Amino acid sequence: MPMPTKTVYLETFGCQMNELDSELIAGSLSALGYRFTGQSEQADIVLFNTCSVRERAEQKVWSRLGALKTRKKSHPDLVVGVLGCMAERDGVDLIHRMPVVDVMCGPAELDKLPELIDNAVRTKASLAGSSPEIAIRKSASQIALQGNSSRRSGTLAAAQDSLESLDLSRMVSPIDTNTARSSYVRITRGCNKFCTYCVVPHTRGAEIHRPPTHIIDECKRLVDSGVIEITLLGQTVNHYRYEHDSAVSIDGVLQPQKGRTYKGSHNRDAFAGAQTTTFADLLYQIHEQVPGIERLRFLTSYPRDFGDDVLQVIRDCPRICRYIHVPAQTGSNRLLKMMNRGYTIEEYDEFIDRVRAYLHQPEIGRPLMLSGDIIVGFPTETDEDHDATKRMLERSRYKNCFIFKYSPRPGTVAYDKIPDDIDDKIKRARNNELLVMQTEISDSIASEQVGKSFKVLVEGISRREHRKRGTEIKAGSGMVGITIDGQSARAPVAVLDESEITGTVQLSGRTDGDLIVFFDVPASEANDLVGTIRDVRVNHADRLALHGSL
Ligand code: 5AD
Ligand code: SF4
Repeated sequence: MPMPTKTVYLETFGCQMNELDSELIAGSLSALGYRFTGQSEQADIVLFNTCSVRERAEQKVWSRLGALKTRKKSHPDLVVGVLGCMAERDGVDLIHRMPVVDVMCGPAELDKLPELIDNAVRTKASLAGSSPEIAIRKSASQIALQGNSSRRSGTLAAAQDSLESLDLSRMVSPIDTNTARSSYVRITRGCNKFCTYCVVPHTRGAEIHRPPTHIIDECKRLVDSGVIEITLLGQTVNHYRYEHDSAVSIDGVLQPQKGRTYKGSHNRDAFAGAQTTTFADLLYQIHEQVPGIERLRFLTSYPRDFGDDVLQVIRDCPRICRYIHVPAQTGSNRLLKMMNRGYTIEEYDEFIDRVRAYLHQPEIGRPLMLSGDIIVGFPTETDEDHDATKRMLERSRYKNCFIFKYSPRPGTVAYDKIPDDIDDKIKRARNNELLVMQTEISDSIASEQVGKSFKVLVEGISRREHRKRGTEIKAGSGMVGITIDGQSARAPVAVLDESEITGTVQLSGRTDGDLIVFFDVPASEANDLVGTIRDVRVNHADRLALHGSL
């Protein structure tokens, strides 16, 4: 099956879930002999892993595909693939609109991608020499179209197996000093919330939770290869819940079931006999069973169904980060209802207060950092609704907040039932107003950190230092040639070449609460610091960044 020496360009759009999918795809294609390049022009196979959450992300992909038309005329054997949410959402329409596309593969079918690409490459090879028109017609009929989310296809169990095989196939290779020591691990796929604006439940399908043993094994393998920070991924990560079959396996020994309660995080047998592994259980088990993880994070939390058990585990486990991304979307109860978010703003506030009460401990150097997402200009949004969002933003005091203009997405309830009636000018003005407010809040949180010391995971040479030196940011070895929105993935991880070791360099790293810290070190020490956790004292804050010294 392998078609060695073929070169692949893989560009990723959208969320961390897509970044992880791209990493897994790249791993499985590399193992089959494909090589990767960061330059689309050098590739025999161009793949876009796409996002449909907002129209803008889709437009970028359309324009990339448009740009490939000329190239395809001169290189008819070029294979073009659209992966991820756009493949799922647009299906055959996408090929009609964009005949350059040879392969489509929805997010639920990515384990079959190597086969699809191989088919496409072979089809092209067998058509070499035919007249271009025949070749195009024939190859169009050979298109290996895949797009079938678990909501539409057969049983949830079948979907579960197919999805699991991609994560299970993960290639873990030992990390060299050039590489980030940070990895994503999926715990849940899909989403069942059906917020009325959101396309994710339609493209990624029903919520499916991975078995805890698979998750823990993956974490162990990553740690063995040199990873020290793991971020667990799910659309609603705190909904994680795994129902075990008739017996559970603990350390490989089958245990009779006895029902479960969380008995405190210092009890190693806390989960013996468990029938269900909850998110709190999972966090605790990973923390205890994989001590090599120096930092454990998770994304994204849903503001409902977040029990005190999870907060207790985070509080009691020193290596779980005090950082929670928990989008409110709006401060208006009327709009929360129209969005089908399932909570009121009072409930959201209560949640934030509860999280702070449990986790905000600046006196032991562990301030809690929150971040959020907001949608402005949701249909019918009034000035009063917008004011309510401003007050919510003030109260929440996020470290940072992603603010989006509402983008109507075909297939969603809001698209079908509620006209997009807010003028783009108003959307933009409200967006800017919130951005200005958030910048002030972020600044003030940064200033509060001056004079304090933090454990900082040193990620590499800062972007500013690269600009100053005119050096290139080198991507990590496992990720060479994968780009995210056109930029090298995993930047700014990099070390200095022998010839570059002069003077001092600025390194960048992150605190447990995900604050970015810059600090200068002698160039001769830089390479040894990258990928380690160090104590950094913050000397001053300038706009959203902290500056310190070792
Ligand atoms: N328009 C604008 N923003 C959206 N998001 C999701 N769907 C839309 C949409 N149709 C935002 C939400 C979500 C984030 C990932 O993207 O804020 O939390
Ligand atoms: Fe979309 Fe809502 Fe699910 Fe988040 S929780 S992925 S916004 S449907």
